Amino acid sequence: MERTFVAIKPDGVKRGLIGKILQRFEDKSYKIIALKMINVTPEVAAKHYEEHYGKPFYNKLIRFITMGPIVAMAVEGKNAIKGVRHLVGKTNPDEADDGSIRADFSSFSTLNLVHASDSLESAQRELDLYFKKEEYCDNYKNMFEVVLEELGD
Ligand code: PPS
Repeated sequence: MERTFVAIKPDGVKRGLIGKILQRFEDKSYKIIALKMINVTPEVAAKHYEEHYGKPFYNKLIRFITMGPIVAMAVEGKNAIKGVRHLVGKTNPDEADDGSIRADFSSFSTLNLVHASDSLESAQRELDLYFKKEEYCDNYKNMFEVVLEELGD
């Protein structure tokens, strides 16, 4: 099983979409194993987006993620990094697949609701940035795991 980092960005929180966005991950059988609402400091934002430092949109990106609370989560599942990115959709909602979160809930590329790690390396780095070991609650099985276990899979 893979673990990935996902954040509902300030636009998603302000628009009251926390529940609907969380539901997408649960519906797809992913397991939420850590979850919290936080205000991202400029220092944490700079670490999170360090690979984009110097790009034309960098300052906007930092201002955006620090403009209000986010919902940070660790999501676990089979091929979760690729699968979650697919559920979230392409950066620009106009180019995102129908049925993805960004296609369904946004029409502005800057207000794209969700961040999801793009590689195993980024996932580990971002999870370590946002969560301490003791914040994980992975001591439960979700319904999909229970059924798979019954099947002997
Ligand atoms: S890149 O250059 O291809 O790596 O960029 P991309 O993966 O598309 O985007 C990286 C993050 O920057 C955000 N982004 C922007 N924010 C504000 N304005 C503009 N023009 C812009 N372009 C890209 C994009 O949403 C990505 O943030 P996350 O949080 O990872 O989704």
